[in-house]
Amino acid sequence: MSNAANFSGTIPSYYDNGLGPNLFTFYAQDISRRVADTRPQNVLELAAGTGIVTKYLHRDLADSTNIIATDLNQAMLDIAQSKFSENDNIKFQAADAVDLPFENDTFDTLICQFGIMFFPDKLQSLKEAHRVLKDDGHYIFNVWRSWAENPFAKIAHETIASFFDDEPPKFYETPFGYHEIDEICETVKKAGFSNVTAQKLKHTAPLTDIPAFAKALVYGNPIAEEIISLGGDPDRAVTAVEASLYESFGITKNMPLEAIVFSAKKAKGE
Ligand SMILES: C[S@@+](CC[C@H](N)C(=O)[O-])C[C@H]1O[C@@H](n2cnc3c(N)ncnc32)[C@H](O)[C@@H]1O
Repeated sequence: MSNAANFSGTIPSYYDNGLGPNLFTFYAQDISRRVADTRPQNVLELAAGTGIVTKYLHRDLADSTNIIATDLNQAMLDIAQSKFSENDNIKFQAADAVDLPFENDTFDTLICQFGIMFFPDKLQSLKEAHRVLKDDGHYIFNVWRSWAENPFAKIAHETIASFFDDEPPKFYETPFGYHEIDEICETVKKAGFSNVTAQKLKHTAPLTDIPAFAKALVYGNPIAEEIISLGGDPDRAVTAVEASLYESFGITKNMPLEAIVFSAKKAKGE
């Protein structure tokens, strides 16, 4: 597992509480509606994390829909699972998106929110998605656009980097480093999909709790470990990130975000 993909230890709770409401809820609601529009019977969620999308899938899909929520990191899934009761029709299973433990032709729809950037082999993950989908099945996933459209990430990266003379922590390059639409569409087609579409989606997030958000930007992903391994102090990074966020968003409390939502289909016989 690459360091950037290691969401374990205390990361999941900071992620869920501090990043979830500011970064992921809006896009989760959007992608869940898109999944519901495919009227699936069997749904597989990849890189489900702490279940932020899973919650909306459960709300938006018919009660009879079978949902399997997967993630590489069991610690993320533990929080996801704690949001549901045994009566809810959802299974949780640790799974690597580049090597899925499911039979061919099993699911009607696959969904993955802000996960593919972490997969070490994107094409292989897309081939796996294609393999486990039934004919006419859909794969819907989203990615972040770059730091330019998501300035909080540039702020976090540069503020943390200012503590290091040489090589700064690189975590924020991963989630914001896979957004070239033509390249992604080509890779999706190469994996066997057709009807590939891409839609940019802007959002303005109301930043209600800047200190909690700053803390989660450091402790809610693997960058805190990276800071420590490079001889830095995550708490000092939190204080500095909080100050930078106040400087940029303190007056309006409005934070611009932008993602791209992809959709693709497994045509019959492909
Ligand atoms: C930014 S989080 C997104 C989580 C969730 N989809 C959401 O919207 O909140 C990225 C997730 O990708 C997972 N991940 C990283 N590499 C993975 C892999 N190879 N297979 C499956 N999940 C992976 C991480 O454990 C983490 O939960």
